[in-house]
Amino acid sequence: MKHLIAPSILAADFANLQRDIEMINESQADWIHVDIMDGLFVPNISFGFPVVEAVKKNATKPLDVHLMINDPDRYLQAFKNAGADNITVHYEACTHLHRTIHAIKDMDCLAGVALNPHTPVALLEDIIADVDLVLIMSVNPGFGGQRFIANTYRKIVQLKQMAASANPTLHIEVDGGVGSANAAQLIAAGANVLVAGNSVFAAEDPTGAIAALKRANESVA
Ligand code: DX5
Ligand code: ZN
Repeated sequence: MKHLIAPSILAADFANLQRDIEMINESQADWIHVDIMDGLFVPNISFGFPVVEAVKKNATKPLDVHLMINDPDRYLQAFKNAGADNITVHYEACTHLHRTIHAIKDMDCLAGVALNPHTPVALLEDIIADVDLVLIMSVNPGFGGQRFIANTYRKIVQLKQMAASANPTLHIEVDGGVGSANAAQLIAAGANVLVAGNSVFAAEDPTGAIAALKRANESVA
């Protein structure tokens, strides 16, 4: 299966959000990555429900909502109502992760769990069969435009091995510092969803940058 590209609108121009969503609609992107930050789980605040609703109104592609918030159970239904198609919560932010994952699935969303750079993949052993997606953070969450952490490759390989028997259709998503320099190697390691913020929106030709990420593994295929 061809890998998926999820441009992160955290790097979009919020004064021209409709234009940037339309760019994604017309591009080869597969999902729209939406970063929600609460100022507690991460040292930054992004945006809330009215913005997600506005994105949904203009988007023709699924919203891949990444919740960087403490105790996300409080807001799952609200994000579903705002237009989320996929909801990913952080392993580090959930006391009862199994319950949270099933609450997301019961709303007919794809359910994801995200791991911070310091959180081992092995901790997913007893939840991996229940999730649709694992998001490996390749930077410390909170900000766009950070440098990619190379240990991520090892984590992806490990996760891919775990998934081979426990959950062969698992989406393996990488988020943070992803661009043309590392996309092919990430796909070769086993990732099938690439999130890209600055490498798309700071590019001179964002549509072309998305197309290049979509073709990233052609030379190594
Ligand atoms: C970081 C967010 C990322 C961010 C990625 O906390 O989860 O989704 O938007 O941005 P880049 O691709 O610029 O690292
Ligand atoms: Zn994200």
